[in-house]
Amino acid sequence: MKLFIDTANVAEITEAASWGILDGVTTNPSLVAKEGRSYHELVAEICRIVPGPVSAEVLATDAEGMEREGRELAGIAENVVVKLPITQDGIKVCSHFSEEGIATNLTLCFSPAQALLVAKAGATYVSPFVGRIDDVGQDGMQLVREIVQIYDAYEFPTQVLVASVRHPQHVVESALAGADVATVPLKVLQLLFRHPLTDIGLQHFLSDFREAKDVH
Ligand code: G3P
Repeated sequence: MKLFIDTANVAEITEAASWGILDGVTTNPSLVAKEGRSYHELVAEICRIVPGPVSAEVLATDAEGMEREGRELAGIAENVVVKLPITQDGIKVCSHFSEEGIATNLTLCFSPAQALLVAKAGATYVSPFVGRIDDVGQDGMQLVREIVQIYDAYEFPTQVLVASVRHPQHVVESALAGADVATVPLKVLQLLFRHPLTDIGLQHFLSDFREAKDVH
C-alpha cells in the first residue's frame, strides 16, 4: 500500500519525504487556505519536493469551471492529480479528463454507489473519507472494504485512496482491506513509528552494552 501525506505544508512534506517512505501528497482547499500562499506556486513547490502524485483540488463547482481549473492545475507539473468533487459535474469532467489521460482524484466519497460512478468515469483515485464517516457514528472502514470488493469484482483500475485518516489503526485497516493508498496527516505518520516495546528494548540494548566491561 502506498503512503501519501495529507497536507499542503511544505515543512511537513519535506520532513516526511526525508524518511524515504513517502509516495505522494494530497491537498484540499482547507489545507491550502492554512498556508496563506499563492495556490499554484504552492502546488509547484510541492511537486518539486515529491516526485509522486500530488492531488490539487478545483474550487469551481460547475463543469465548465472545473474543467478550466483542472487543466490549469494539470499544467503546473506532470505529477499533478486533479481533485474533483463527486457531483454530477465532477463525474462529467472526470470522464473527459480520463479520455485525455489527465490523472484525477474524486473526493468526498461517502458511499459505494458514488465509488461505482467514479470507477465508471475512469478516475485514477477515489477518496473515501473514513474519519468523517466515523464522526457520524458509522463505520468508515466498512465503506473502504465495500469499494475494494466492488472494484476487485469488476477489475476496475481506479485506486482506492483512503482519506480523512485520524489514527494509526485507520492505516492498518486500510492495508488489511486491500486499499491502494492511505493519505495520512504528519502527526499520524509519526505515530506509525511508535511502539513502547521498541523504546524499552532499545534502552536495554544500549545500557547492556554500556555496562559490559570488556566490550568496546
Ligand atoms: O484531504 C481530505 C481529508 O483527508 C480530510 O480529512 O480529517 O478533515 O476529515 P479530515
